[in-house]
Amino acid sequence: MFAKSGVSVSISNQHGPESLAALVREIGPNVVAVTVAEAARADIVLLALRWVDLAKVLPTLGPWNGRIVIDATNAVEFIDPASPEAKDPKNPVGAYGLKLVDLGGRYSSAIVRELVPGARLVKALNHVDVRLLPTPIVSSGRRVLFYSGDDASAKASVRGALEQTGHFVVDLGALDIGAPLTSLPLGVLAAGSFVKI
Ligand SMILES: NC(=O)c1ccc[n+]([C@@H]2O[C@H](COP(=O)([O-])OP(=O)(O)OC[C@H]3O[C@@H](n4cnc5c(N)ncnc54)[C@H](OP(=O)(O)O)[C@@H]3O)[C@@H](O)[C@H]2O)c1
Repeated sequence: MFAKSGVSVSISNQHGPESLAALVREIGPNVVAVTVAEAARADIVLLALRWVDLAKVLPTLGPWNGRIVIDATNAVEFIDPASPEAKDPKNPVGAYGLKLVDLGGRYSSAIVRELVPGARLVKALNHVDVRLLPTPIVSSGRRVLFYSGDDASAKASVRGALEQTGHFVVDLGALDIGAPLTSLPLGVLAAGSFVKI
């Protein structure tokens, strides 16, 4: 959604830039494939890793030196939707092929914040199904994206990039307030699709 709205982006994965060549061709201009280390040196770094991989990958990156990190992750494990775990009535996200990670009563971005020391963390994009992101404009209005964080200028930069994609962007305040509101399983703004009419 960023590249298509004119925001230049670098993308990376664990298999290396060559493995992303077809995707880069499909997206078109404004996107390049780079290594993970190169991607982590961008002014704004978007984390779209599975929860289980964060603690493996993030300590190998940095120093963050005040750069902006967008936490788009959720503290979930991906499981087989046909598995007994997915059908367990005590698993509130089993129907989505997910299982909650026990964070010992903490919220997930508080843990991510510790994994990127010196970064300015903004929580965003974790609450929306990625398949909806290419269509910010729907017949009834504009899809809503929420964000939160503790650094005003970092939040302004992220807001600008999100607004450029055509979404209606809503500031939920500080990380301690906004991130739990959009986080699974109990955030009242989690896993919903909101449209500004
Ligand atoms: N999917 C959604 O609709 C959605 C919505 C909101 C939030 N989220 C959150 O976004 C995060 C990612 O979800 P996803 O569905 O995009 O998962 P995914 O499809 O499995 O993508 C994970 C990405 O992480 C990369 N990766 C794995 N290990 C790595 C490593 N060691 N170094 C560098 N890159 C590595 C993978 O690279 P390879 O491709 O090379 O394996 C892949 O590109 C999760 O925290 C999820 O909860 C997802």
